[in-house]
Amino acid sequence: MEYRGYDSAGLAVNDGTKIEIAKCKGRLKALSDLTNGGETIQGTSGIGHTRWATHGVPSDTNSHPHYNSNESIAVVHNGIIENYIKIKQRLIDKGYSFQSQTDTEVVVQLLDHYYEGDALAAITKVMTKLEGSYALGIVFNDHPDELFAVRKDSPLIVGVSESGNYIASDVPAILKYTRDVYYIDNGEIVKLTRDNVSFYNSDLEPIEKELKTVAWDISAAEKGGYEHFMLKEIHEQPKAVRDTLNPRIRDNDIVIDELNMNEEDIKNLKKIFIVACGSAYHTGMTGKYVIEDLARIPVEVDLASEFRYRNPILEEGTLTIIISQSGETADSLAALREAKRQGMKVLGIINVVGSSIAREADNVMYTWAGPEIAVATTKAYSTQLSALYLLAMHFAKVRGALPQNEFDTLLQNLRQLPEQIQSILDNNVTQIQYIASKFVAVKECFFIGRGVDYTTALEGSLKLKEISYIHSEAYPAGELKHGPIALIEDGTLVTAILTQEDLYKKTLSNIVEIQSRGALVLAVTNEGNEEAVKVSDIAVYIPVTDKHFTTSLAVIPLQLLSYYVSIGKGLDLDKPRNLAKSVTVE
Ligand code: G6P
Repeated sequence: MEYRGYDSAGLAVNDGTKIEIAKCKGRLKALSDLTNGGETIQGTSGIGHTRWATHGVPSDTNSHPHYNSNESIAVVHNGIIENYIKIKQRLIDKGYSFQSQTDTEVVVQLLDHYYEGDALAAITKVMTKLEGSYALGIVFNDHPDELFAVRKDSPLIVGVSESGNYIASDVPAILKYTRDVYYIDNGEIVKLTRDNVSFYNSDLEPIEKELKTVAWDISAAEKGGYEHFMLKEIHEQPKAVRDTLNPRIRDNDIVIDELNMNEEDIKNLKKIFIVACGSAYHTGMTGKYVIEDLARIPVEVDLASEFRYRNPILEEGTLTIIISQSGETADSLAALREAKRQGMKVLGIINVVGSSIAREADNVMYTWAGPEIAVATTKAYSTQLSALYLLAMHFAKVRGALPQNEFDTLLQNLRQLPEQIQSILDNNVTQIQYIASKFVAVKECFFIGRGVDYTTALEGSLKLKEISYIHSEAYPAGELKHGPIALIEDGTLVTAILTQEDLYKKTLSNIVEIQSRGALVLAVTNEGNEEAVKVSDIAVYIPVTDKHFTTSLAVIPLQLLSYYVSIGKGLDLDKPRNLAKSVTVE
């Protein structure tokens, strides 16, 4: 399961008399060394976990399993408990003490609180208290021959075999032992013994489930059946965006606890610097348009490699935001240090918990994309956009720049993004495969757009060059005539992003100019925009959202396009040539 998380790992094994727990920070290898390959921790039932930190840095204590004070119950968890702070406080008031900073520990302490000998009864009671997502594996000292599991919005499967039964959050973990699996649905509870598996609904009524046989081999299964990690991660975007947005939307408002800025601090903001590299820089560019338009705070966006050496002017009232998936990019880390050296407060928008930038930033807003394996980022990029939208709306509201009714409409649009991304993934793939097959041999590409669409163009162009090695440039549509138009000739592919209704017409006239010089034009535009289809060779339609959020939708066909062009060229697209996932050198 390491591809699902690899910052720490742990085991809890019931040997019939007590639950033995072994866990530590680091890769699975560290746990293997700690337990002498598992030899030192023996028993007949147990649970294991590889962690990708969300709440609390990677550490021995924060590793799963988590257990209650007398070590009679142990739990592993995949997902996020959104209301853990409230539950934790209530339990502390009742005399419970907590060892870790994790959200998961509240689950085991709640189980302790409700357990009176009946494991299933305690589990169902706990389920009613938890908000968020979870797949839980649970062992009780009192039930040495049993293992319990339950899920809501995080994957869980059960594998059955002659020699024992298994729970896992994905198929590859158990393929070595069996291909016979049950897929557990939301709200279902499972009780396993060595020879038997029973399923219950949340009212504890027994239910029947259908046994399925997995046809994949291990390597296919690791990618969840997708051919590449990049495609898997493209398809994980609805969940990643939802996980980033949901914990920060409460009672129809935006609450960003980790920002640590009170109303006064936000009102006093004079300027924001956004500093990043690669795709993270592109999200910063989108952030600039959105924050400036909604919150009316001036935003400057810089590439970290420039910012660090150009002696930037950072004055009182400036907030510096560093965006990074890995949290380890050398230039971004150096930029953070430069900002801090000048006495500035730094906010990190980071995916990897406990990474260098996360540790050194004053405050961190995590993007909950989960581990991103493919070198070309997709889901982390999408979550960075979500984080910036949340900040823009929050700042705008606090500063009185956004009337309540407009805020409400924006929030409604924001909430719909995950399902709209899903609908593009459900409906547009065949069309994009067709388009990609037409453009595999293209030598030269341009991506154009105005406003927010220009920032989407930047990312679309980078994706294409990164994984398909086609020379590609992104330009603001209005700038094309100042040079690049000289390169347009028969067969040049121009992708035009047209989601900003107030700017459509302007870009359409740019399209006519380039078409008359032989370019092929692919338009990515909003459903219902009839004009675009008239002037372009092919149009891809995306669902309608608020004009500030269109990048989140328009980028999806562009990611898919670069993916399928790369496939058409037979390239190793999870590991593109000359590129690294985490660039820790200058
Ligand atoms: C590399 C990756 C890009 C990424 C950039 C910044 O160039 O290939 O996908 O956008 O680094 O990485 P970071 O981890 O700081 O977001």
